[in-house]
Amino acid sequence: MNVLRFSDLCASGKARGQRVFIRADLNVPQDDHGAITEDTRIRASVPCIQMALDAGAAVMVTSHLGRPTEGEFKPADSLSPVAKRLGELLGREVPLVSNWVDGVQVAPGQLVMLENCRVNKGEKKNAPELAHKLAALCDIFVHDAFGTAHRAEGTTYGIAQFAPIACAGPLLAAEIDAISQALANPKRPLAAIVAGSKVSTKLTILKSLASNVDQLIVGGGIANTFMLAAGLKIGKSLAEPDLLAEAKAVIEIMKARGAEVPIPTDVVCAKTFAADAVATVKKATEVADDDLILDIGPETAAKLAAQLKAAGTIVWNGPVGVFEFAAFENGTKVIAHAIAESSAFSIAGGGDTLAAIAKYGIEKQVGYISTGGGAFLEVLEGKTLPAFEILTRRAAA
Ligand code: 3PG
Repeated sequence: MNVLRFSDLCASGKARGQRVFIRADLNVPQDDHGAITEDTRIRASVPCIQMALDAGAAVMVTSHLGRPTEGEFKPADSLSPVAKRLGELLGREVPLVSNWVDGVQVAPGQLVMLENCRVNKGEKKNAPELAHKLAALCDIFVHDAFGTAHRAEGTTYGIAQFAPIACAGPLLAAEIDAISQALANPKRPLAAIVAGSKVSTKLTILKSLASNVDQLIVGGGIANTFMLAAGLKIGKSLAEPDLLAEAKAVIEIMKARGAEVPIPTDVVCAKTFAADAVATVKKATEVADDDLILDIGPETAAKLAAQLKAAGTIVWNGPVGVFEFAAFENGTKVIAHAIAESSAFSIAGGGDTLAAIAKYGIEKQVGYISTGGGAFLEVLEGKTLPAFEILTRRAAA
């Protein structure tokens, strides 16, 4: 990736005494009382902030939180709980600054958090006037918000256009390095698991991966559509019959390359979608008209686990069954443990996938866990994210 890296600027002493504006993605889930329920993104943002402080910079960090209405700040939009948590992690007070667009007081060695950047008018549409004001706040702009790298907004793109220096923070750089390593120069076989409810939301990813991976493991509603494409009955299961031709095309692209889309040979069915529904294991050829497929069967799970254990690289996005219900979690659990036990370099991303990783306690055995949701998916689609486009352009100028 041909972008300027903040770590290099710090190592060469160029950040000392400079005003450094860090765009992080601190958009974390909160409960009804505003308490943070999961702080991975805050922890993942600490190295960049610490790097800036250690380099002797005057440090500003901001993020969006949720999707507030511009110009209408509400207490629920506040980064206050995030500033508190960041303060605990850094072992120092993190003052929160409101109404900061026209100027911020911060001295070298100090750190301030700038209130929810999406409340500023013009942020979402990257208004030029706002972009110039943001750029004027700093000497160095650091993009470290991988989770928001697919958005071209004021603090993710506009500021990068006009700041004196624009560079990638360590998290942004690590994310793109890990994903490119997994997809551009992978140790083979390369297996990808793409699961979720709808083919339509992941069609571009399926097509893009079909020309690269050795095994394209599909799961959830996506697998149901592929089963239909393979001529199997799926009863009342969630599927998109209008995308059969697309599913067949993916199977054909894979076949032509000597690669495969493994179609389940057994499944776990229920008559209703409920946690207490009776789970019945059936051969994939014996699904009844009133059945709902809610997981892959044990035979399929064991076959896929063997493939994953023999893989050189694994990309994982999406649970293969309704893993939130105990009776239908086996497929996802077996896959998770196979990834954990595999010597392959594995990379995982997406909200549900992270929840499955947490549920089965395999965080330490996954090679790289992405902090991106939509951003991770767009990279899998083969898109160049706006963050990388602008940082590459600035590095070349
Ligand atoms: C996310 O949660 O995926 C990122 O923070 C991006 O949020 P957004 O979809 O509201 O831009």
